[in-house]
Parts: sequence; C-alpha cells; structure tokens
Amino acid sequence: MLKLLMLALPLLSSLVHAAPGPAVPRGGIVGGQEAPRYRWPWQVSLRAYNIYWFHICGGSLIHPQWVLTAGHCVGPTIMNPNNIRVQLRKQNLYYHDHLLPVSQIITHPGFYTVQGGADIALIKLKNPVNITSYVRPVSLPPASETFPSGTSCWVTGWGDIGNNVSLPPPYPLKEVQVPIVENHLCDLKYHKHRSTGDNVLIIHDDMLCAGNEQSDSCQGDSGGPLVCRVRNTWLQAGVVSWGDGCAQPDRPGIYTRVTSYLDWIHRYVPKNS
Ligand code: ARG
Repeated sequence: MLKLLMLALPLLSSLVHAAPGPAVPRGGIVGGQEAPRYRWPWQVSLRAYNIYWFHICGGSLIHPQWVLTAGHCVGPTIMNPNNIRVQLRKQNLYYHDHLLPVSQIITHPGFYTVQGGADIALIKLKNPVNITSYVRPVSLPPASETFPSGTSCWVTGWGDIGNNVSLPPPYPLKEVQVPIVENHLCDLKYHKHRSTGDNVLIIHDDMLCAGNEQSDSCQGDSGGPLVCRVRNTWLQAGVVSWGDGCAQPDRPGIYTRVTSYLDWIHRYVPKNS
C-alpha cells in the first residue's frame, strides 16, 4: 500500500503542477528554461521582511563574503543591514530557506535613478560562506573586456516570466541565453517610439544591453548577474538594471556594465588571489 502511494504521489503532483502545454517552459525570466542544479553557483536571492522574508532582487557572490547587486535593490536611501538577508544558490525559492545576515550595504554614491546609471551596490555578509561546488563566486572581467555582440551570455533569476506574470510555484531558478546588443544600436532602438531627442543618450557608457522579444530578464531579476563565457571562463558582464517592459520589440534589457565599476568594487572587495 505504502509502495503504491509512493509511486502514485509523484504522478499526482506532476498532474497538479502540469504546465499549460509541453512547449511552455515554467519559471522566472522571459523565455529560457529551468536552470540545471549545478549551474550558476554564484546566484543569490536578496530578501526583505514583511510578514515573511520575501524575494526582492537577485545578486551574485563575487567573493566568499561579498554580494554584488543593483543600486535600486537596496537604495538610493540608506537601508539598515538588519532589514536584509541573503539566500545562497537554491533550486526552488522559499523551500528550506537558510537566510544569511548582512553586516554592510554600500550603494554607489552616483546612483539616484536607474536611467541615470551607476545602478550598482555591494552587500557584505556577516560571515564568509563555505565554498562548495554548488556555491562559489563568479569572476569579474578584466577592465578591457567589452563583451561584443556574438558573445555567449546568460541571465538567471526568479523574476517575472512575462510582463506582470510572476514566477509560479515551485519557483525554480531560470536561465536564458540573451544576445548582446551593442550600446550604439541599443540607444538607437530605445529612441524609437520615444520623444527623447536623438542627441540625448539613453544608453550610457556604464550600461550594457542584451535580449530580444524571445529572451530577457524581467521584474524581480534585478540585481542578478549577466554572465558571459569568455576564453572558457564565466565572467560577470552585467547586473540586471532596467528596461522598457520585458522582451518588448526594440527594447533590450539594460544591465549595469561591471567593467565600469571594477575600481569602485575593489575599493571594498579584496581581489580573489
Ligand atoms: N527593474 C527590474 C527589477 O527591479 C528589472 C527589469 C529588467 N528589465 C528588462 N527588460 N530586462 O527587477
């Protein structure tokens, strides 16, 4: 009897959680699929408290004691570190949470609004984490790295799967490959169907664009990493920052360009030796 039940349960639950169609992948991020368990060991979830510790943003482990995220996730008004927790890489959000305390939040002093740039922040953990094959930091790029179009880049997160469509339970971490769109081309695209003057830059030098109508990050992915495979290593190229909707025509996702902030990051975070 017990054996029968054990056989029937996974079948039952797969019926209950069945996706609307075989071609529709479930999960956060627009397009893409659920991330394999061993992938993206640097992905973290930032939490704030209101009834429960809910997910506010993504982030990435860049050192055993430091998390990189977006300025708008924790600023621009100064937040008390006691009001934030960090959940390390997990397959399903909120299942068996193990939340880590934070000792310091540093928002870039040049950050005011996402459109203004400098949308970047650092979070120091009270204690360094144990590095395992499931949890480890991502490498930062050398300052000279430009991530030209054609580079293989991926974005990950537990954010919305479409405009105003949130990730359904069991909240699996999602991944999607996104095409890099050169800054000049991205700026031209963002000027379409907008009143912004042609001479007014929308995509600043400290931003990086990626995505199309099939693949993009979305609300709730902010602060999370855009990583690219360069010379056989994953490098963090961007931090999810903003966009005009998600996966809209002529509106690629906009990321904070990590190479623009290496000096600022290393003012606080020791270089991995
Ligand atoms: N600002 C959003 C957030 O707070 C991220 C938006 C990214 N948008 C995009 N089209 N890629 O989660």
